[in-house]
Amino acid sequence: MYKSGINNGNYKCSGKKTGFLEDVTVSENKYLGADNYLMKVFSENVKKQVTNPKAGQFYMLKLRNHIRILRRPISLHSVNFKTGELEFLYKVIGKGTEELSILQKGSILNIQGPLGKGFDIYKKSENIIVIGGGIGLAPLKQLIKELLKYKENKNIIFIAGGRNKEAMNILENFLLDSKRVSTFICTDDGSLGEKLNIAEMLEKILKNNKNPDIIYSCGPDKALKAVNDIVNRKNILSQISMEERMACGVGACVGCSVETVSGMRKVCHDGPVFYSSIFYENRGEINGN
Ligand SMILES: Cc1cc2nc3c(=O)[nH]c(=O)nc-3n(C[C@H](O)[C@H](O)[C@H](O)COP(=O)(O)OP(=O)(O)OC[C@H]3O[C@@H](n4cnc5c(N)ncnc54)[C@H](O)[C@@H]3O)c2cc1C
Ligand code: FES
Repeated sequence: MYKSGINNGNYKCSGKKTGFLEDVTVSENKYLGADNYLMKVFSENVKKQVTNPKAGQFYMLKLRNHIRILRRPISLHSVNFKTGELEFLYKVIGKGTEELSILQKGSILNIQGPLGKGFDIYKKSENIIVIGGGIGLAPLKQLIKELLKYKENKNIIFIAGGRNKEAMNILENFLLDSKRVSTFICTDDGSLGEKLNIAEMLEKILKNNKNPDIIYSCGPDKALKAVNDIVNRKNILSQISMEERMACGVGACVGCSVETVSGMRKVCHDGPVFYSSIFYENRGEINGN
C-alpha cells in the first residue's frame, strides 16, 4: 500500500525496488486529433532527481474509478529534468484512457515509475533508424532526444507512420529540427507522406542506404512483426518496444509474459524494450499470437 502525497517513497516487491509512487500535477492535457492526447505533468521526483526516467521506460497511471483498479501502462514520451516536466502521449481506446483524457490542468494523478528496461542508447554511429507507427510513436520523442545528445551519432533516419494526416498531428511535438534527423512520413491512406506502412517504408530505405548500425522500433503488433522479420533476415542489430496487457507492471503476476528463443520473458520487467533477435525463432509469434 502507498500513502498519497508527493514523493511517498519506494514501492517494494519481493524485497526489490520496483518503482516509485508519486502524486503529480497535470499542467496540460491537450487533444491532438485522432483520439490522441498529450498530457504534461509536474513531477517533484524528476525535479529533485529522485527518479531518472529513460527513453523506453513506462509509468503505471492510476485511475480514480475504483471499479477499474488496474493501473494503465503509458510510456515516457519526454522528460525535462530542469523543470520536472514529464510528457505522456496516449490514445483513448477504452474506459481507462478515456478517464485520463478528462483530467484538467491542476488535477492530481498518481503515477508509478519509471518502470521496465528502456532502449540501449547508441553513442557513436553513422546511421541509426528509428521507426514508429501510430501511438507506438510515443516513446520515440525521448529516444531521439537521447540519441542526439551524442554528437558522434551522425545521422538518424526517423520513419513515422500512421493511419492518416490527422493521426500524424502527434509529430508537431517532436522537435525534429536537428540537421542530423531525416524524417520519412507514411500513412495508410496517403494523406500525408507516402502511402506505405512503416515496414514497407523501412524496406524502401534499406534498399537505398547501407545497413544502419541499429534500428529501434515501436508500433502495432503487425507492423512490429514485419519489421522484426526484416531486421532478423538482414541481420541488423535492432531493439523493439513491446506491448502486452499488464496487471502489476512490476514482474509479480507473470500476466505480461511473452515467448522468446530463450524462454518466457515478462514485458514489464525484462522489457518493454527487447533485442529483436530474441524473437527470431518465433517469427510471427510476437505477443504470443
Ligand atoms: C509498456 C507499455 C507502454 C504503453 N505506452 C503507451 C503510450 O505511451 N500511449 C498509449 O496510448 N498507450 C500505451 N500503451 C497501451 C495502453 O496501456 C493501453 O492502450 C491502455 O492500457 C488501454 O486502457 P483502456 O482502459 O483505455 O482500455 P481497455 O478498456 O483496458 O481496453 C480497450 C481495448 O484495448 C486493448 N488493450 C488494452 N491494453 C492494451 C495493451 N497494453 N496492448 C494492446 N491492446 C490493449 C484491449 O484488449 C481492448 O480491446 C502502453 C502499453 C504498454 C504495455
Ligand atoms: S504485468 Fe505483472 S508480471 Fe508483468
